[in-house]
Amino acid sequence: MKFENAQKLLDKYVKGQTLKRHCLTVAITLEFFAKDFKAQNPQVWKSAGLLHDIDFELYPDEHCIKAKEILESEKANFPDLTDEIIRAVLSHGWNLTNAVEPQTDLEKTLYAVDELTGLIFACAMVRPSKSVVDLEVKSALKKFKSAGFAANCNRDVINAGAAMLGMDLKTLMQKTILAMRSGHELIGV
Ligand SMILES: [Fe+2]
Repeated sequence: MKFENAQKLLDKYVKGQTLKRHCLTVAITLEFFAKDFKAQNPQVWKSAGLLHDIDFELYPDEHCIKAKEILESEKANFPDLTDEIIRAVLSHGWNLTNAVEPQTDLEKTLYAVDELTGLIFACAMVRPSKSVVDLEVKSALKKFKSAGFAANCNRDVINAGAAMLGMDLKTLMQKTILAMRSGHELIGV
């Protein structure tokens, strides 16, 4: 799916700037990981990342459930919105709101970085630079272990995501920091 089409589709359902920025952060992060995995279609990863929270603003209590209905209904308007993207979006609700288990590299990566990008964003915000550019993985790991810091970022999900990918937490964090750095001007961090 072309990223510009994914942006048009997201704009129909998400108006809040904070959620939009989170969606863009995950999109940029997934594109970086797609290239790292030498995936055929980094654009598909990026679009799936952008759309992953499409139902969250309108239906917070049916997150990753309403998304199926919304995306299926938009197939007619967006012919390049594929089942691969729809399944990826749903699978980040695995064990939280649905039973769609992450299976592909794209799905596992989305599951692993959704909460983690939030934690890294919070780590950057408490730095003098307010940026990921000079954020060290050591510092992010320390904050990960401090349960009171960015307490809403679910550490169990991040750990489960790393395990799915067969990556240790430090490697996953390092790659995610690099991913966010690759688009830090667009994300504003
Ligand atoms: Fe998310």
